[in-house]
Amino acid sequence: MRFKLLPPFSVAPLAMVALGALTATGCSNEGLTTKNSAQGALPKAEGGGAPSLEIGSDSVFYPNNLPSALKGRQAYTANCAGCHGTYLTAQERLDLSKEAGLPADQQVVRKGLEKEGRWPETKPLNGPDFNDRDWRFQRTPGQLFQLIAYGSMPDKLGIANTRWIQHPGPVLGADKKPVKDASGKVQYKPGLGWMDAIQIQRGGLEFVSGDSVPVWDSIYYVWSRSIAVKSVSNFADVWKIYGENCSVCHGDIAKGNGPLSKQLNPMPFNFQNRKALAETTDAFLFWRISEGGQFRNIPKPIQDTMSSQALGLYVHQWSAMPSWRGLLTEEQRWMLVDGVRSKTYEHE
Ligand code: HEC
Ligand code: HEC
Repeated sequence: MRFKLLPPFSVAPLAMVALGALTATGCSNEGLTTKNSAQGALPKAEGGGAPSLEIGSDSVFYPNNLPSALKGRQAYTANCAGCHGTYLTAQERLDLSKEAGLPADQQVVRKGLEKEGRWPETKPLNGPDFNDRDWRFQRTPGQLFQLIAYGSMPDKLGIANTRWIQHPGPVLGADKKPVKDASGKVQYKPGLGWMDAIQIQRGGLEFVSGDSVPVWDSIYYVWSRSIAVKSVSNFADVWKIYGENCSVCHGDIAKGNGPLSKQLNPMPFNFQNRKALAETTDAFLFWRISEGGQFRNIPKPIQDTMSSQALGLYVHQWSAMPSWRGLLTEEQRWMLVDGVRSKTYEHE
């Protein structure tokens, strides 16, 4: 298992911070009321957009339709793979290994990947390895949307005056097309967004869409890499665990809250709320599943990763949510995080 458990939650890179905070939880009474004044320090994105993750703000457009990792794969390959490398799903790797010994004209999977520009699989030249979930467990999809759409995001949503991360985007010319150098290479600059620059293909034509959908699709594509690599065969197990332990309150994952839900106050969280899940981190979901609803404080390292608005909206302190730490293994709890997430976008 990649994630080493350090009580009471397991997220390895946070572990040192976490332990520090835990010893301090007794005297920290910040609990649910931490202010996120990072909101006050939002820089203006170049080009006039003012990125904000405030709930209800109109700069994080959340798509009405399910974002699609499948469509995102195409947008990613065309726009992002040059820096971030190409990724295959676990199934594609399996299929390739089966075809490896066949004559070239019978290698169907490989040909398909070549056509899509995804073969050979390459390592990232820049940024994190998306196959490794550690890069994203403290991120919300909404935060990443802000980074890619507008070019920058706060590192920690719950901390005032946090470091701002800048992401490179294409420099656009007067014709709104990416500026290329003499050798035909696109010019990038940190802090520039992709909202008006992400190229997509439709009907055999390549064009810039100028709306948020392909940005969301590409975010969920990279987001899903670390799920796709390890969990293909695990999902059947996830829904079994979910059905046995969670659906009585949370309902059928595809439908929303279950039979017991109306008797509970606060009501169980509804996993059909995709916007809420786009505003939460895996670190938070894992902690919540592990600790349940009877807690005094949200550990500081978890608070730091989410905006105070999101925590205020989605977390009630003395709820009926059971603690699963002693009942489900660490791996099972991570699988549930992945499972619940995998329903918020069209998974490959
Ligand atoms: C010109 C190279 C380049 C291109 C093109 C590029 N990126 Fe990046 N990306 C980077 C670099 C460099 C970083 C690391 C930024 C940092 O941490 O300071 C990064 C980081 C990221 C991260 C991780 C942010 C975090 O810290 O959690 C995501 C997600 C990401 N890129 C998505 C994309 C997507 C989606 C596209 C295509 C629309 C894209 N990138 C195109 C260079 C690039
Ligand atoms: C006895 C009913 C009950 C059962 C069983 C139950 N939950 Fe919950 N769950 C709740 C309640 C109530 C909340 C609190 C909602 C709130 O704070 O507004 C909650 C909240 C959550 C949250 C927080 C979501 C968010 O974004 O704030 C997660 C994640 C979660 N439950 C996962 C699970 C999983 C996984 C299982 C099965 C292993 C499970 N729950 C079983 C009642 C239940």
